Amino acid sequence: MTENIAIVITKDKLCSERIRGLVFRMMYKTLCRSLVSTVLILGTATLAAVLQKAPGPPSLPSIMSNGLGSLPLIGLGKAIGIGPPPHERMHQLADRFGDVMTLEMGREPWIILSSPEAVHEAFVVKGGEFSARPMVPSMSISSGKGQGFAKKNLDPSLIKLRQKAFGELFDTQSVQRAQAQFDEEIEILINHLVCASSSSENGGVEIRPALQRAVTNMVLRYAFSARVPFEGEDSKFDSCSGSSMCATSLVYEELVDVVEKLWEELTSTQTFLTDLAVEPRLADLYYAGISPIPSLVKKRDSLLRTIVSQRRQTKTTRSNGDMLDVLLGSSLPESDIMYTLVDLFVAGVNTVSTTLEWMLLLTADKPQCQTRARSDVLACGDSIMSNMNNMNHPRQQSYVDALIKETLRFKPPLLLPRRSTVDTSIGKYEIPAGQVVLANNWALTHDTRWWRNPRSFRPERWLEEEDKVFQGVESCKFIPYSIGRRVCPGSRLAQTEISTATRGLLRSVSWCRVEPKIDLREEFSLTLSPTTSQCLSFHRLKTRRKEKNR
Ligand code: HEM
Repeated sequence: MTENIAIVITKDKLCSERIRGLVFRMMYKTLCRSLVSTVLILGTATLAAVLQKAPGPPSLPSIMSNGLGSLPLIGLGKAIGIGPPPHERMHQLADRFGDVMTLEMGREPWIILSSPEAVHEAFVVKGGEFSARPMVPSMSISSGKGQGFAKKNLDPSLIKLRQKAFGELFDTQSVQRAQAQFDEEIEILINHLVCASSSSENGGVEIRPALQRAVTNMVLRYAFSARVPFEGEDSKFDSCSGSSMCATSLVYEELVDVVEKLWEELTSTQTFLTDLAVEPRLADLYYAGISPIPSLVKKRDSLLRTIVSQRRQTKTTRSNGDMLDVLLGSSLPESDIMYTLVDLFVAGVNTVSTTLEWMLLLTADKPQCQTRARSDVLACGDSIMSNMNNMNHPRQQSYVDALIKETLRFKPPLLLPRRSTVDTSIGKYEIPAGQVVLANNWALTHDTRWWRNPRSFRPERWLEEEDKVFQGVESCKFIPYSIGRRVCPGSRLAQTEISTATRGLLRSVSWCRVEPKIDLREEFSLTLSPTTSQCLSFHRLKTRRKEKNR
C-alpha cells in the first residue's frame, strides 16, 4: 500500500514536473518567437525609417494621357538645345540633390550615381544586385529583343557568353594576332588623310568618316578577315586581306553602309525622345510604321546571316582563325553567334572612332601635347607598344598612354544604364527591384572632389598626381569601360585599336586645325561625341625615325 502510494505520489510528482517543464518550454519558445519577431519588426521599421527615397528635381508635368511619359527635364538640353547638355545638367543637379539622385526620365525614373563611392557600392560591392540591363525600344529592335550581350539578366547563358568573350573572342592572344592587320589599316588611313588634305582647297579633311571607316575595317578584319576600301583608295590595298574579302566584298560594302545608316538612326534625337518619353504602344507604332530602324536591322541581320553561311560552306582553314572562326567553333547557340557579331558593330565601332576623333581634335587644339606625344613615340619606337588592357596599371606608362587616358577622362564615354535585380540600397537610399541606375561618367571624371583642375586637358596628370594604381573606391573615378558584372567585354580590343591608331598617326603625320577654332562641345547620345564633324589638315612627317628604331 505504502509502496503504491509512493508510486502514485512519485508518478504525480513526475507528471506535474513534466507538465511544468512543458509549460515552461512553451512559454520560453513563445517568448523567444515574439522577441525575434519584435526584433525583426523593429529592425525592418528602423531600416525603413533609415532608408530614404533618393531625392531629385521635379520633372515636367506628366502628360501620360497624351501618350507621352513625364518628360525628362534634362532632355531639353538635347532635344531643343535649352540649357546645358544632359551629362552636364545631371552633374549640376547632383550638386544640389546628391550623388544618389532620382531623375524622371520619361517612362520611368532613373537613379543617377555621381560619385566613386556610390558606383563602388552599387557595381562592385553589390555587383550581382545591379547586373541587369534595361532595354529601350530601339535597342530591343536592334538586338532581337535582347539577345547576345544585350540580354536583360545575367543568366547562365550570358555568363557563358561573357566567359567566351574574355577567354577566346577578345583575349590577349587573339587581339595581338590582329596587330599587323591593325597597323596596315592605320597606314591606309594615314595615306587617305594625307592625300585628301593635299587635294583639298583649304588643306582640310573631314576626320569623322575617315576614322569610322578605319575602325570599321579593323573590326571587319578582326571578325571576318575582310575590309572595305576608302573612297578612291588605291586598288593595291584591295587584296591585302586575303581571298575571303575579294570573293564577297560587295556583302561587306552593303553591311558597312547599312550599319552606318543604322547608327545614325539609333543616335538621332527623335529616337532618344521616342525611347525615353513615348508610351510603349505608341513607340511600337512609331517604330513599326515610320522609323527606318526595323528595315535597316532586317537588312543588317540578313547580310550577317549570308556571311556566316558562306563561311560555313567554304570551310576555309585559316592558319590564324579570325573571330568568326572562333565563334563557329564554339559551343555557343546560333543566336549568340549572330548577335555577338551584331554587338561588335553596335558597340565596337563608334565607341572607338569617337575616342580617336576626340584625341585628334584635342591634340590639334593643344599642339604642345601632340608634339610631346610624338617625341615620346619616336623616342621609344614600338618597344613599349604598351598593352593598355589594364587602365589602372601605370608600370612603363608613357606620355602616349597618358594622352589616351586623358582623352577618355576629359571626353568620357557614356556608361550604359543598369537595372537592379532585387530590393536593395545605395548608401542611405532604398533602391527597389527593377530600378534603372546610371553612373554619370561626366560627374566621375569632372568633379573637383577627386580631380585636380578637372576642366583642363592635361595628359601629364597621369604621370604626376594620378600616376598610381587605383584601388577600391578610387578605382571607380575612372571607368571608361565601366566596372562590375556587365563591364565592357571588348575593352582589350578597343584599347589595342586606340593605341595602334594613336601611335601610328603620331609616328607618321602631324595635324592642325583649318578653322580658326576647334569646336570641343559634346553631343549626348549613345556615345559622347563632338557636336560637329570637323576638318583637320594632315602632313606627312619628313623624318620617319620609326625606320631607324625598328
Ligand atoms: C572606346 C571603346 C569602348 C568603350 C569606351 C566601351 C564602353 C563600354 C561600356 C561603358 C559598356 C557598359 C558596361 C557596363 O554596363 O558595365 C560597354 C558594354 C559593352 N561593350 Fe564596350 N566599349 C568600347 C568598345 C567596345 C568594343 C570594341 C567592343 C567589341 C566587341 C565592345 C563590346 C561591348 C559589349 C558587347 C557590351 C555589352 C556588355 C554586356 O551588357 O554584358 N565595346 N562598353
